[in-house]
Amino acid sequence: MIYVSPSVLAADFSRLGEEITKIEACGANYLHLDVMDGAFVPNISFGPAVIASVRKQSKLLFDVHLMIEKPERYIDDYIKAGADIICFHYEATEKADEIIEYVHDHDVKVAMAISPKTPAEVLLPYLDRLDMVLIMTVEPGFGGQKMIPETLDKCRLLRREITARGLATNIEVDGGITAENVWLASANGANVIVAGSAIFRSPKPRAVISKMRSECDLHPFAG
Ligand code: DX5
Ligand code: ZN
Repeated sequence: MIYVSPSVLAADFSRLGEEITKIEACGANYLHLDVMDGAFVPNISFGPAVIASVRKQSKLLFDVHLMIEKPERYIDDYIKAGADIICFHYEATEKADEIIEYVHDHDVKVAMAISPKTPAEVLLPYLDRLDMVLIMTVEPGFGGQKMIPETLDKCRLLRREITARGLATNIEVDGGITAENVWLASANGANVIVAGSAIFRSPKPRAVISKMRSECDLHPFAG
């Protein structure tokens, strides 16, 4: 199953509620919320208060991508804000085991992300305990960048491993994904597609989402 997760980073923040309602009606599955702290990445976005306030008006699954140092300090705030999936970066913490356990104990799904320079192998010891892995296809920090195709090799390695272990772990890709290049992601084993600019900046977001889905269906994991 392919899930499309539009990133609100590319939305018009002055009309955030309307933008989310519109995208929900366009067939999105998840809502990707990029939290940036100005330390782990050279940019600052929004925090739990904004997420809690939009939570009230959307039924989408909230896919919260924490690009913050030592995420263990704030996990509770994002659980309370209404996250359905909490994704933290491997590079940002030494407390990965504790975070995974804590998030699961609160009945929230957990994902681990890796930046482009981090090898996929670091995720292997955690794979059985993760609901999703996030492969960054650009350097984290900004929307609107160009996808780095080499990062998709990591999806292939992980998809093989997930299949070999009989797991149901989702593989999410994030950064520079468009309706034109999304097929590369699905062909390499990704099944959760994040797209900010390609969806929110399009005059026809419904058509973009449905094209993304059909391109992925046409190009399943090639092994
Ligand atoms: C980048 C963020 C992405 C970003 C994607 O650090 O994690 O989620 O919003 O935006 P696009 O699709 O425009 O590259
Ligand atoms: Zn993201």
